[in-house]
Amino acid sequence: MAEIADYLKLSPVMPVVTIEDASIAADLARAFVRGGIRVIEVTLRTPAALRAIEEIARAKIDIVVGAGTVLSIADLHAAANAGASFAISPGATPTLLAAGPMATIPYLPAVATASELMSGLAAGYRCFKFFPAAAAGGIPMLKSFAGPFPDARFCPTGGISQETVKSYLDLPNVLCAGGSWLSPADVLAARDWVKIEALAAKAAASRGLPRGG
Ligand code: 3PG
Repeated sequence: MAEIADYLKLSPVMPVVTIEDASIAADLARAFVRGGIRVIEVTLRTPAALRAIEEIARAKIDIVVGAGTVLSIADLHAAANAGASFAISPGATPTLLAAGPMATIPYLPAVATASELMSGLAAGYRCFKFFPAAAAGGIPMLKSFAGPFPDARFCPTGGISQETVKSYLDLPNVLCAGGSWLSPADVLAARDWVKIEALAAKAAASRGLPRGG
């Protein structure tokens, strides 16, 4: 099984998308690929989400699709069954932390504090979503984590924009950053794939080279 870090290093920016209509999912993913993005998080926040993941996975597009907003073990299993390559939570519970290593797909828990990070590290995790990034301390918080937790790596999301993403990507403990700014609801509703491709291209150029470590 691939490791979550391998997926997080595919693109500097991971679109976090909320899809209301699964029939647009494959076209959306293709537009991201044309813009140079290779990984996408589909949030389990709509009835269409699992179907959207299925559509993207089945269409054999050159993009890795993960499920976001995984709140329970049932969500984790549903994500894997739909064809998601990985699963992400906006936080973590002891149950999910224990189940993650046994899941059939890699699992990325989230942290917002040093204590949550200690729990995740003690459970054997090294990679974390940092959510909600901007509200929970943003760049200064990630810099502060680097001292006591030098091995932890992060995918910050929440309140990040094209204007601020580069500062996050410059941090050595950030593998990629995520956000919803690449898929505005009105642009999705209009099926404006040219616009999505342009947003993706800008985001994909936010860091020249993929991150190691
Ligand atoms: C997430 O789940 O990561 C967030 O909803 C993305 O946050 P944003 O909408 O502020 O980019």
